[in-house]
Amino acid sequence: MNSRQVAFNVLAPGVQSIRGELDTAIARVLDSGWFLMGPELQAFEREFAAYHGTEQHAVGLGSGTDALRIGLLALGIQPGDEVLVTANAGVPPVAAVVAAGARPVFCDVDPHTHTLDPDEIDRRVTSHTTGMVVVHLYGHPADMPAIGERARRYGMKVLEDCAQAHGARLNGRLVGTWGDAGAFSFYPTKNLGALGDAGALLSADPSVAERARLLRMYGWKRKYVSELHSTVSRLDELQAAMLRVKLRHLDDWNAVRVDLAERYLEGLPEWLVGPPRGGVFHLFVVQARNRDALKAHLADSGVATDVHYPLPAHEQTPYAELARGPLPTTERLAREVLSLPMYPELSTENVDYVLKALRVYGA
Ligand SMILES: Cc1ncc(COP(=O)(O)O)c(C=O)c1O
Repeated sequence: MNSRQVAFNVLAPGVQSIRGELDTAIARVLDSGWFLMGPELQAFEREFAAYHGTEQHAVGLGSGTDALRIGLLALGIQPGDEVLVTANAGVPPVAAVVAAGARPVFCDVDPHTHTLDPDEIDRRVTSHTTGMVVVHLYGHPADMPAIGERARRYGMKVLEDCAQAHGARLNGRLVGTWGDAGAFSFYPTKNLGALGDAGALLSADPSVAERARLLRMYGWKRKYVSELHSTVSRLDELQAAMLRVKLRHLDDWNAVRVDLAERYLEGLPEWLVGPPRGGVFHLFVVQARNRDALKAHLADSGVATDVHYPLPAHEQTPYAELARGPLPTTERLAREVLSLPMYPELSTENVDYVLKALRVYGA
């Protein structure tokens, strides 16, 4: 039994550090007696949009997956359209494309950033391709200038998946503001996490935001009067109130993540491939050819790790039939990636302990 145990992630200490602010916000909602589509949602939408710049609009939704689905529909993706997507971000992006009625077309990723390889767009585009979902995976921004240039060339819509990258900047510009819209998840473990399911769509185009507002509730423009087909996906008042509190801490928490990542990067043994610098380190993902043995060694040393993600979407039963070209980098990375502990409350002593355990393995 090891004297030290390093958890992969813990959520209670983060909540505890702002407990007073959260309690005040919860009491405000309880006292208001308003639980859906009320003042907290409106305020959060205003504040989240303002965080991203004066020209942005935000629409609160029930989850990140719904933000992707509704984002695609709000951007005008039609049934049967082809939408480019990567396969290494778990199932949500591809599930959202299918739920929007479109056809996912898998693209391979850049071996260093694990994000969409812009050259893949040239290889996979057809006359039916109308959009793409670009995931800023692990908190690292994708190559948006190169992607945007191709999107303009081919007339495609760009939906950024910012579920793992709240507050990340590329060339000083926040993710979610590069493409036609940005989809955010506030799943509890995210850099900006609610205390349950929650999501949002961000766009500088008021007509996209307006369409997303209709789509989140039965296509209602006026109460009980539907303008288009849709079901329902709302961000509730309690979650909005929690997110308003947490948004104020996002940049500080991200700065701590970046400092912890820097400490990891400086101490990683040479035989281990570390992640690139930049972004907000939602996850700290290393690459090792002997990944499973390394994971077992760390577990023996008391260090919990995880794999994001062990099975690429194109190898999963519901999506295996989709047409695609080769995805060699995606498939290799699925065998090699290993996520080390990373969260703002992780102590530097525990980072040093993880590094020591890695060095013992390599010795
Ligand atoms: C990259 C990515 N996209 C989308 C989602 C979906 O978000 P949610 O769980 O809020 O539906 C997640 C998180 O689970 C994610 O990591």
